[in-house]
Amino acid sequence: MHKVETRTVVPIKGLRGEFVVPGDKSISHRAIMFASLAEGKSRIHGLLRGEDCLSTLKAFQSLGVEIIEKADDELIIQGRGLAGLQEPSDVIDCGNSGTTMRLMSGILAAQPFFSILTGDQYLRKRPMGRVINPLTAMGAKILGRDGNSKAPLAIDGGGLTPAEYHSPIASAQVKSAVLLAGMQIDGATTVYEPHLSRDHSERMLRFFGADLESFSGGARVNGRVQLTGREVEVPGDISSAAFFLVAGLIVPNSEILLKNVGINPTRSGIIDILQQMGGSIELTNQRELSGEPIADLLVKSSQLHGIEIGGELIPRAIDEFPVISVAAAFAEGVTTIRDAKELRVKETDRIAAMCECLGALGADIEPLEDGMRIVGGIRLSGGQVNSFGDHRIAMSMAIAGLGSASEVEILDVDCTETSFPGFWELLTQISRGNTS
Ligand code: S3P
Repeated sequence: MHKVETRTVVPIKGLRGEFVVPGDKSISHRAIMFASLAEGKSRIHGLLRGEDCLSTLKAFQSLGVEIIEKADDELIIQGRGLAGLQEPSDVIDCGNSGTTMRLMSGILAAQPFFSILTGDQYLRKRPMGRVINPLTAMGAKILGRDGNSKAPLAIDGGGLTPAEYHSPIASAQVKSAVLLAGMQIDGATTVYEPHLSRDHSERMLRFFGADLESFSGGARVNGRVQLTGREVEVPGDISSAAFFLVAGLIVPNSEILLKNVGINPTRSGIIDILQQMGGSIELTNQRELSGEPIADLLVKSSQLHGIEIGGELIPRAIDEFPVISVAAAFAEGVTTIRDAKELRVKETDRIAAMCECLGALGADIEPLEDGMRIVGGIRLSGGQVNSFGDHRIAMSMAIAGLGSASEVEILDVDCTETSFPGFWELLTQISRGNTS
């Protein structure tokens, strides 16, 4: 396949139209994983065919699961039950996907065979101690590079006992890894977290028949309950919709309708934040899809103003801070983001990356140890920026380009395939005829 490495985004006069964003990345990963661990057949509709989810799909194929690709966004998975996976004959490559590596660690730690997880140059730099430590406390035998803190991870599975784990961070990947290990062994495993992180694992595991209870401050699973194959419909990804929410707000004369977007309260922080900034976002047609709330989002251009963001809002919008910093640059006044140190260990250090990228276009943005401070309202110039190989940085800078004084060239953009195949085509489509 021919890969385009650089994209140039030109300022536009207005965004109009109605469209759907691709399936939710977090939910797509979990649908593949839980369907593989269930007894019987599952059918998944609306799956995200991003590279991250394909890494999960290939991982389960290498564990002996039969997966039939019916259409671009539809899979049939013949589950093998909790005890039916096979030892993989090769290293499992998780690509750029932290969710694949951390959730697979929990699954494989309880499986009675040997496996190795690796990933691309970015994933191999990210912290894995956060899953190795609680799993090791349950009796798992996991070895990693750099003092047992980084991938590749070698897992000699089996021999686990249940645990009560108090996670120091609000991380759905950590919570899920421990629950997935606990789900496969006798007894109750409980995870407590400082703020509620996304709860897709809890919702979908219950949907597949697991004995799992959520309570304020955490979740508990009773192990060895067999999952049963289901029909899953994946909602549109609010983290992908976020780029167009911000675009619709900052580009004058815009009105767009984003259809079938997941609005799970553990993910909808972006809506709350943009509304607090004065953004016009209306939720219509609210309903439920496979245990997840969804809605259509109507967005109209708005004059935004700066706000202070911290506390429980951080995990509820954790992937959206690159594009929130773009919104802040277009807002009147000061926006401060605190309590967001986790941004430093995402696909790249997103605090450093956004300060460099927006700074290069003339924004007044300063890094804080656990966030950023942005003085908005300065018209962004055009220029050239790097994505740092991070899909969300690349797409955020594309949105900044739509509202800048002149064109923005973004380097190294192949990474958008990770979570949003078709992003550039959609951007071209909604900008057509509207360039200024
Ligand atoms: C994810 C959880 C979040 C998020 C990531 C996807 C998931 O990571 O940033 O993009 O699917 O569980 P953390 O658990 O590290 O916060």
